[in-house]
Amino acid sequence: MNFEFATTPRIVFGPGSLEQLGDHAARLGRGAWLVTGAGALERIGVVDRVTAMLAGKGLGAERQRVAGEPDTTAIDRGYRAALESGCDLVIGMGGGSALDTAKGVACLMANGGEALDYLEVIGHGRIPAKPSVPVIAVPTTAGTGSEVTRNTVLGHFVTGTKASIRHEHLLPSVAIVDPLLSHSLPPEVTASTGLDALIQLIEPYVSRRRHPMIEVLAIEGIRRAARALPRAYADGGDAAARADMMLAAMWSGMALAHCGLGAAHAIAGPLGGSYAIPHGMACAATMPYAMAANLRVAEQDAGGRETVRRYADVARAMDVPEGRTDLDTARGGVAKVCDLCAALRVPALSSVGVRKDAIPDLVARAMRTSSFKANPVDLSEQDLAGILELAIG
Ligand SMILES: [Fe+2]
Repeated sequence: MNFEFATTPRIVFGPGSLEQLGDHAARLGRGAWLVTGAGALERIGVVDRVTAMLAGKGLGAERQRVAGEPDTTAIDRGYRAALESGCDLVIGMGGGSALDTAKGVACLMANGGEALDYLEVIGHGRIPAKPSVPVIAVPTTAGTGSEVTRNTVLGHFVTGTKASIRHEHLLPSVAIVDPLLSHSLPPEVTASTGLDALIQLIEPYVSRRRHPMIEVLAIEGIRRAARALPRAYADGGDAAARADMMLAAMWSGMALAHCGLGAAHAIAGPLGGSYAIPHGMACAATMPYAMAANLRVAEQDAGGRETVRRYADVARAMDVPEGRTDLDTARGGVAKVCDLCAALRVPALSSVGVRKDAIPDLVARAMRTSSFKANPVDLSEQDLAGILELAIG
């Protein structure tokens, strides 16, 4: 057994843990570049609280707001402004967009150049030679797990495609994971981010890249997320459900970073680049059909028994009753994910404007993603087209 495991070296988890932000910030720098979303944190008074907390420790704070998905321009402008204002620490607070922007800004503050220099696939893939400026990641949604991963996903405004800067230097120094920050999320954001977390646990658990530590975290994360997500959706103030979702989301970040993802994320990438659909909903719209396609291929192949067994583990973790065989149990898991998607109002892709004539292009782009390479079985173009056809509805 050979494996490597690397994540954010210091994780502070629990209701009220935001109170520790000032101490960690004072330990890591003197001036904070605070990256947040467009306005939700202001409305609930968190930005004022954080600014006061930092001032109380003698730290100045400058703001960068990220509206929508982060792109290379936000990183390039952000890092130059952060350096000009004398900041030596970056705090990312918000959903995946704010956290990914913070990680990218901190990388370029130390390494200079432009975001495109470091981007994989569409950029020059340059390795950031120097460690980033310290980053404190404070997630406010239970979704991406970006607080514990070593990549930042950015859109390129010219080509409209998304790619990652990926290096261990991108790992935050500290993650402060306070479930209280997620209580005010509206139900539709709870649904899309929570489904993303659940899928980021299932796909790594069945992926081609086995990892004994992730197996333990992923299966426990699936158990917690499957029970907690409908409760958090129905009642945002359910503290136990919110805490379970924050934990599951954090583990999902560790899971995807070490094991990769699969077909649902492979398709969600190009969907997100071309249509106005939240990432989690793009994943969830195809997930039941991707699971069914993987099982169909696995059951016909002698080497597919392990994949079937893993999908049965996933089903059991979601409290699906034991079937006559692993395949029956695994199929129960597909039905469970389908029911969950219906309960959380996952839209058919047709409702966001995806038409059947877009399928060939989406399939071609999905097959080039790194997520597709981690999918547990080989799916053909026809298989992916079939998944999309069902998801379009
Ligand atoms: Fe995701």
